[in-house]
Amino acid sequence: MRVVIDLRSDTVTTPTPGMRRAMAEAVVGDEQKREDPTVTALQERVAALLGHEAALFVPTATMANQIALKLHGRPGDVLVAEEHSHVLVFEYGGVAAHAGLVTLGLPGVAGRISSSQLRTAAAPSVKAADQHVTVISLENTHNNAGGRVWPLEELTDVVETARELGLAVHLDGARVLNAATALGVDPAEIAARFDTVSLCLSKGLGCPLGALVAGSHAVIERAWREKHLFGGAMRQAGIVAAAGVYALDHHVERLAEDHARARRFAEALGAAGVPVELERVETNFVQIDVGRMGLERDDALARLRHAGVGLSATVSPTVIRAVTHLEITDADIERAIDVIPSTLLAGVAA
Ligand SMILES: Cc1ncc(COP(=O)(O)O)c(C=O)c1O
Repeated sequence: MRVVIDLRSDTVTTPTPGMRRAMAEAVVGDEQKREDPTVTALQERVAALLGHEAALFVPTATMANQIALKLHGRPGDVLVAEEHSHVLVFEYGGVAAHAGLVTLGLPGVAGRISSSQLRTAAAPSVKAADQHVTVISLENTHNNAGGRVWPLEELTDVVETARELGLAVHLDGARVLNAATALGVDPAEIAARFDTVSLCLSKGLGCPLGALVAGSHAVIERAWREKHLFGGAMRQAGIVAAAGVYALDHHVERLAEDHARARRFAEALGAAGVPVELERVETNFVQIDVGRMGLERDDALARLRHAGVGLSATVSPTVIRAVTHLEITDADIERAIDVIPSTLLAGVAA
């Protein structure tokens, strides 16, 4: 049966009519020559939003992360990140392939590592004196943890420790605007403290594609070269950048609506006996541990799909997730609340 309420991910959105109009009317030029005014405008807006001097438009958040991490280490250097972070588990070992970095994944709590873990990890090795941790990558919000947010004090502690240890710090901020919304702070308050930050346009912001990497003028100059090396230097990319500019104008404040819908959804499912841990619902993700209902993950997903609701798998073998986004309405949420408990509980009885 065709999925009618698609809660699999915030990446499933398609451009709204207003966004399509903005794209159609975009003033464009040759981006490779830095002559596309819409790309330039987007880059300037995002740099300011994230509290950095400059930003670079790239096709995907994966490329933004890969370029940034390549700038922070030489082959043989060590990258530390939380073990389930996107850069370690979903980017096909890109940091090893592109940058020659050795990866060290640390077990996290809600996607967060601690400063003491970092100190231990970065302690000099007696065996390989010249193999150093040179860079850490943090993720906020953290996808595999279920859209979890770093409290600012914890972020400060880890970033300051990294600084003290002389490490470069990267933020995979694909969803940093969700984090800022949840904390009620300016995105720059989270992002400015990092050397580089990636931001994705094709998740909660609803663009068809695109991402940016932000940093100092000097770092972003180096990033331009890396982007070309990756084959990511484009031509009339303003057609797509216009979607980004439109999203910054129209789709940032509304992220709070996605969060409110996720909360309403989680509370109603919890009240109906579906295992949802409410204190873990901080942004637009809701995780359901179907193992606690005695259900197999794939069976649960198939039942839901058949009932017209799309959820998706997570890195945990018994946990499925629902993600709200700009195509999910209040009516969709009410319908999903109606359908999901009975569909899953019928599976338990069967
Ligand atoms: C935290 C995080 N970083 C980076 C990415 C990569 O985005 P893309 O698939 O657009 O390259 C994703 C995608 O899901 C993500 O969740």
